[in-house]
Amino acid sequence: TFEVLAAKAGVRVQVGADEPITTALARAGVKVTVSCEQGICGTCVVDLLEGDPDHRDEYLTEDERTDQIALCCSRAKSPLLVVDL
Ligand code: FES
Repeated sequence: TFEVLAAKAGVRVQVGADEPITTALARAGVKVTVSCEQGICGTCVVDLLEGDPDHRDEYLTEDERTDQIALCCSRAKSPLLVVDL
């Protein structure tokens, strides 16, 4: 498990092993619009402010991967990700 901090909302959630980040955030009242939920469409992409992401999408380019993350499917290698939500 890891944690995600939605910086603007000031909400920090624990993400379970089998749980998408979007589900964990929704539980805490932070809604992320999703569409494909498979890492293909880019609807759920947000800016990543801190942390070491484990990208699982097929949408972002290598360049974009440094500061963006697809929240429907990606995970974290660090204990905390901070996103611009
Ligand atoms: Fe399509 Fe996340 S909802 S990439």
